Amino acid sequence: MAVSLRTLTSSLVFLSLLLSFTEAREILVGGKADAWKIPSSESDSLNKWAGSSRFLIGDYLVWKYDGGQDSVLQVTKEAYQSCNTTDPVAEYKDGNTKVKLERPGPFYFISGAKGHCEQGQKLIVVVLTPGHRYTAISPAPAPAEFEGPAIAPTSSATSIKAGLVTLGLFVLALF
Ligand SMILES: *[C@@H]1O[C@H](CO)[C@@H](O)[C@H](O)[C@H]1NC(C)=O
Repeated sequence: MAVSLRTLTSSLVFLSLLLSFTEAREILVGGKADAWKIPSSESDSLNKWAGSSRFLIGDYLVWKYDGGQDSVLQVTKEAYQSCNTTDPVAEYKDGNTKVKLERPGPFYFISGAKGHCEQGQKLIVVVLTPGHRYTAISPAPAPAEFEGPAIAPTSSATSIKAGLVTLGLFVLALF
């Protein structure tokens, strides 16, 4: 009994460490490779996608597109609203663009291809402040029910890790 609990605890600690090293996520914009384009409808828009995603400091946004046809411009709020492609904050046209979200708050992106922003090829990503990170912790499963890694399909790596740490501490407290 004691041995298996100890083994369980070390596994949990190991798993937590593993998750903490893999925490910087690369998030494909739009959720698929060809998503950086003029949306076919409102429900297909990138901001609809962004609204249902969680972005944390340290995450990377990744765009995959044809660099000969399109580009990604990081712009100010004003330029975002007016689709002004002159003088962007940053310009990427390599077809495989990676931007690190290094601070909380909104990030504005528009397409650099002529007329695309006006037709809805634009994106606002709001990065949560660090204080919001642990608001979505799901309760740790009871040890009796624990039968392997607690990977809930809807949990983020952060809440899984927090849950495992909680569970690990709980198991340790049994000694
Ligand atoms: C677009 O932005 C540039 C640089 O900020 C500015 O000089 C220009 O007046 C803007 N154009 C429009 C149409 O707002």
